[in-house]
Parts: sequence; C-alpha cells; structure tokens
Amino acid sequence: MSDTVQQIKDKLSIVDVVSQYVKLERSGSSMRARCPFHAERTPSFHVSAERGTYHCFGCGVGGDIFSFVEAIEGLDFKGALKVLAEKAGVPLDYARGKPQERDERDRLFELLETAALFYSTRLTSEAEKYLHERGLKDATVKEFRVGWAGSAWSDACEHLKKKGFSDKELLDAGLAKRNERGTLSDKFRNRIMFPIADSAGRVVGFSGRIFPEKPLASGQVAKDDGGFTPPKYLNSPETPLFHKSRILYGFDKAKSAMRKLNCAVLVEGQMDLILSHQAGWGNTVAVSGTAFTADHAALVKRMTENLVLALDADEAGIKAAGRAARAALSAGLNVKVAQLPTGLDPADLILSAEGGSAFGGKDGAEAWKDRIKNAKDIITFLLDVLEERLPQKDRFRRAVEQVVLPFLSDVQSPIAREQYVREIAERLGVSEGAVSDALEKHPQQASPGQVSRADVSVSALPERVRQAYAIVLSQEKALTPLIDVAQFKNDLKEAIGDNMFNALQALPESEKEGLRFGAERRYGTDGSPVSDAKHFIRVLSIDRLSGELAALTLPLREAASAGDVDAEEELKQRSKLLTAHIAKLHKGE
Ligand code: UTP
Ligand code: MN
Repeated sequence: MSDTVQQIKDKLSIVDVVSQYVKLERSGSSMRARCPFHAERTPSFHVSAERGTYHCFGCGVGGDIFSFVEAIEGLDFKGALKVLAEKAGVPLDYARGKPQERDERDRLFELLETAALFYSTRLTSEAEKYLHERGLKDATVKEFRVGWAGSAWSDACEHLKKKGFSDKELLDAGLAKRNERGTLSDKFRNRIMFPIADSAGRVVGFSGRIFPEKPLASGQVAKDDGGFTPPKYLNSPETPLFHKSRILYGFDKAKSAMRKLNCAVLVEGQMDLILSHQAGWGNTVAVSGTAFTADHAALVKRMTENLVLALDADEAGIKAAGRAARAALSAGLNVKVAQLPTGLDPADLILSAEGGSAFGGKDGAEAWKDRIKNAKDIITFLLDVLEERLPQKDRFRRAVEQVVLPFLSDVQSPIAREQYVREIAERLGVSEGAVSDALEKHPQQASPGQVSRADVSVSALPERVRQAYAIVLSQEKALTPLIDVAQFKNDLKEAIGDNMFNALQALPESEKEGLRFGAERRYGTDGSPVSDAKHFIRVLSIDRLSGELAALTLPLREAASAGDVDAEEELKQRSKLLTAHIAKLHKGE
C-alpha cells in the first residue's frame, strides 16, 4: 500500500490536486489561496510544491495531498486513496486481488454491499406501499437504497454464503447471529432496511424499522427476543466498520450540500432524514439510535461550522438537543435550534404536507423550510424558553446561571462568547462583568482537539520561542542554510532551558510543518533569518535571566529579615552577576 501512496505522490503535484478545489495564486515563491476549511477574506492557505504539503495560518490545518482530499471530500484514508489513485491512473492493488486475498475490511465492505443489494431486491409491494404512505417517492427509495428483510429465518445468510462469505464474516458484519442450534440466523427480519454508509458512500451497517408493524400470524412471527416485543428500530451492532458514535446517517449524501449551503441540519431518525432530503434539504444528517457525540461534531465541522438541531420537541428530545448542542459547541460549531410543533418530528411535519391546514395552509415541506430558516441561536433559544417558563426575574436569573452558562462555557470563539455575555447581561438587567464573573465558575469542557494533544502545543508557546524554533526547522530543511543550525540550536536550548527545548522537539510533525510554513512566509525567498536569529537568542536569554533575577527577590527579603547574613550576601552576588549579564545582553543590540 505504501508503495502505491508513493507512486501517487510522484505522479500528482499538490498544486494540481489543490487547484481542483480552490483557486491558488502565486505570491513570490509560494502558492496561496483562501482556505477551504474556514471562512476568510484574505488568503492564508499556503501550498509548498517542493515539499508537497499545505498549511493554513488561519485555522492551522496542514498535511499532504491525502489529508487534503480526506478533509475536503470528507473521506477516510482509503476513500482518499481511491480518489487520488483514479486521478493519477495508478491501479489499486487490493481491487485486483481475488476475493479471498483482499484484506478483511475490504471483504466486509463487499459483504455489506452485497447485503444492501439483496435487501433492496426484496422490497415487497406491501413494503413499498408503506413507504409511499410515509411520503417517500420511488426515486427517493432508490436513492437511499431502502430495502426489506423478510420473515424467513436465514434468507440473507444463505444468500451471502452462496456469494462466498463465511459464517465468521457474516457475524463480523453484524448481519447474523448464532441460534441455539449453533447455526446462523438473520439478525434483521421483518424490517424495512436502511443501509448506513460511511463518508465515502460504502455501506457499513443497517438500521431496520419493524415492518409489518404486527407480524403476520402465519407461524412466521418475529419473536426475535424470546417473545419480547422487538424494538421499533434495530441497528447494526458495533463492528470493525460500524461505529455508531462516529457515523452520521446520510453524511455521504449530505456533504457537498453542507459545504455549499454552509450549514448542516441534524435530525434524529432515518425517516426524518430521508424526508428532509426529499424536501430539498440535502444538507441533513442523522444520528441512528445514539447521542450526538464529539466525533459526530468533528465530522460536521469538516464541511461547515453551522449546525441546526431539529430534534423532537418532546422532553426527551429537548434533553437530547441540549447534549448535542454542548458537543457541537465544544467542537467549535455555531448551533441553532429549529423549533418543531410540539409532538411532531421532522417526518411528521414534512408529511403534514398534503393535509396542510394545520400549518397555515402551507404544505409540509414549506413548513419544514420555515422551521429551519427561523432556527434560533442556541443561547437565545434557551433564554427564550426560560424566560417564558419563569416570568419572575430572580428565578429566571438563577435558571440562566444554572442552565445557560454551562452552554456558554462550551462556546469556543471568544468573540461569540463576548456577544453572548452582552446579550445575557441585557436580558437579565445586570452588568456584563457580573455575567463574566459567573461564567468563570463554569469550567470549560475540553474540546476534542485539546484532549489528545501533547502537553505542549504550539499555540501555548511564547511567540518568540515559536518563531525562533521555526527558523531552526526551516533552516534544517534548506538546501543552503543561512545560519549555523547546530550552533543556533545550542544557543536556543541555552536561552529557553532544556525542558522547553525538548518540548519543542517533541512537537508533532504536523505542527512543525506549520512552523516551517511560518518561517517561509516571514522570510520569503530573499529575506534572511540571520538577524532575527540573533535577536531571538538575545531577547530569550534576557527573558530567562530576568526571570531568574526576579525569583531571587523573595529569598533575598527572607534572608534579610531572618538576619542570615551569609545567605543574603550570596544571593546579592548572584543578583549582581545576573544584572550584569542582562545589561551586557541589552548592550549587544
Ligand atoms: P423514534 O421512535 O422517534 O422513531 O426514534 P421515528 O423516527 O419517529 O420512527 P417512525 O417515524 O415511526 O419510523 C428516532 C430514531 O431513534 C432510533 C432510530 O434511529 C429512529 O429513527 N431508534 C428508535 C432506535 O435506534 N431504536 C428504537 O427502538 C427506536
Ligand atoms: Mn417518526
């Protein structure tokens, strides 16, 4: 595989790949564009043709052609590999092998694809009629590959075995279970089947809705769970391909619309999703039978920063919306809430279409559109709900502190946070300072990006340290270095201390590449970092020595008041030496 990666990298230049998505312009020796991964007016997205990498100074993303295509297409590595291999005309080895020789994951992908096809051919006219009643058009049923799992015990298993898949593979894919007799039976029976795909559009699992609602009393009843009422929806279990906390239903179909409309809509169920797409909201995604997680939020964030929550208006739905909102805010998304009529989910609302009268004569798709367009900002939404429920000023105030501030502490943008503080202060009739003070008491949830980072991240370093180390990194890679890199490294280590220097060296390669781009931008092709290099060493040394000097003040005072003359004398000597050293550095200007 790594051979293929290299072949592709040899054939495709990063400039060509990136140009297909954004307009690159030349500026001096470098190529730059407005960053496709965050909103900006001035271009801070740089591409290095020599190193085959990109970096954005605005949002910090960076990488090579593979990570670029992953990010911009919303694909995993293999998906990006597929896209780039096709572009480069490099055949992918695994696609040529015999079924048995492909790796396990590829086999599972193939199995699930075969199953999706199987279920879709099994759609009976009753099932089709039911889907029509629920408002689905034929084209939509096709597009979403909706199928049916019949009432027989093991039709799907048998079909898949005939196609060459093993018992183990059937179990691994989550489509079979072992019964008491030790043979396999189908996991999904008597269910409308919704294939769930990953972001490259490959089927990874299913959600099955019970149908018929009351299984026929023909002896082939669905008593899956030893006579318990089967759940309305059954989802694939966690498998090597299906992780429900990381997959959003409909994401593969929604990604380009999310980017184009710069907004995503989140609903709760399969039917809600499909009907929303059918009603013209191709930017809708859904969770299937699970909470909206930080991983889901990160997935959305790759396409857009704006998320509209359209969850059920019942108590459970509001709670779920609250949790989803916090995960989304922590990931840095802007969150709005679409208010649905009490008791209706999006599917109900959209389907109220033809009925119409309950919604001012508009059809349901129109009503759905209004709800999304008029979605309220999450903080405003919460304030409105609380104010309406608690007309007494002091109770409202307390509730805001308890309910709204935790949300606010998740908001990532300092600017947005300040605006909210202002809004809350106004609504409560208190000062902004009071709101800020109250906010301090709510610890900020770590955002997903922060959790897994190494101890020191570039952004936490003092600016001078960062710039000095960027010189090291760029000069190390330069064909004709302009400074004595080894000497400079020594001086830097001396100036900032071993701990910080080691932390710099331990930075992930991606952050180092970001620093290289930084130096490149600062010094361009003809600028020289020599004088900056000297300057940084000097000021960093002064910083460090001044710190040491300041640290002597307290022991000195203590020694003096304790009458410890020897200690006092020694400390004074050290102070003098440090002061002299600092003065010398200052003069060296
Ligand atoms: P709902 O119970 O609100 O279903 O669950 P719904 O979408 O209104 O169902 P319809 O309209 O009767 O077909 C919402 C979502 O929660 C998950 C499913 O993904 C469902 O779409 N769910 C629900 C489960 O995973 N298991 C269940 O038993 C029920
Ligand atoms: Mn429903």
